[in-house]
Amino acid sequence: MSLYENLICPICKNSLRKEGASLKCERGHSFDFAKSGYINLLNPGKKNNAKAGDSREMIRARSLFFKTGCYARIRDTLSSLVASLEPRVVIDAGCGEGYYTSKIASDCRGAMVYGLDMSKHGTEHASKVDRADGITSTLYAVSNIFDIPLRDGCADVVVNAFAPVASEEFCRVLRSGGYLIICASGEHHLEGLKRKLYTQVYLNEANEHKYEGFELIDHKTLSYKTTIEGSEAIWALFQMTPYYHRTSLEDKAKLEGLSSLTTEVEVDFFILRRL
Ligand SMILES: C[S@@+](CC[C@H](N)C(=O)[O-])C[C@H]1O[C@@H](n2cnc3c(N)ncnc32)[C@H](O)[C@@H]1O
Ligand SMILES: [Zn+2]
Repeated sequence: MSLYENLICPICKNSLRKEGASLKCERGHSFDFAKSGYINLLNPGKKNNAKAGDSREMIRARSLFFKTGCYARIRDTLSSLVASLEPRVVIDAGCGEGYYTSKIASDCRGAMVYGLDMSKHGTEHASKVDRADGITSTLYAVSNIFDIPLRDGCADVVVNAFAPVASEEFCRVLRSGGYLIICASGEHHLEGLKRKLYTQVYLNEANEHKYEGFELIDHKTLSYKTTIEGSEAIWALFQMTPYYHRTSLEDKAKLEGLSSLTTEVEVDFFILRRL
């Protein structure tokens, strides 16, 4: 089976077939592959807010930070969780710049892995990296995870890391008995960063992740301390967080000149089974 066979037209929901550098449906809707290999499957007729996807700067910041290796344990834990389920089809919903997606593709031999994100900067980055690394089992599509361009019941696993939870769509694309793995900030995640920024530090809110059509079967927490070296990497981490947009200039200035930062990393993995 080829990577294209699970894709559906975002406009009429019919199958897509590959013709040269495009995918086409029987009603003549056509979508072109970008040079880097990703495809834009946003429904042009819908008011997709392209700005909802992460900007080039956000994607750049994330890949710069990931290079420090400080999140490698999150990536490895997530990927081995997925690999233990021996999936044939995986969807990474809100894949960003593909940091977790490509590791999952490397660890899940023979699986087809779809990386979906509203940000074309993210999917472009991910496609380029996978091409350079010789990974051929991934396909990245600019798409809205609330309107996924994939067939009903085609997926064995949906991964959703630090991204909006579109539980109804995840339910639709998962086969019965398939798994949804949600990766979310734990209560103490990045507390060290918050201590630098704010005088009063609040814990992150815990979410139960209960969704219709799913049963929660397991919950694991990964927590460790990490030290980020260099002001550029510290700033990149800050840019990745929701705090970046809600912190005053005065508080932001507290990170200036900081060359090393030690912080808690705490991530919750929720494993849900589709009923
Ligand atoms: C915090 S980032 C996490 C990215 C990646 N999973 C990671 O952990 O590195 C959230 C991502 O969700 C994407 N996103 C937000 N809303 C979306 C939507 N409705 N459809 C697709 N992607 C969306 C953003 O573009 C962004 O790349
Ligand atoms: Zn169509």
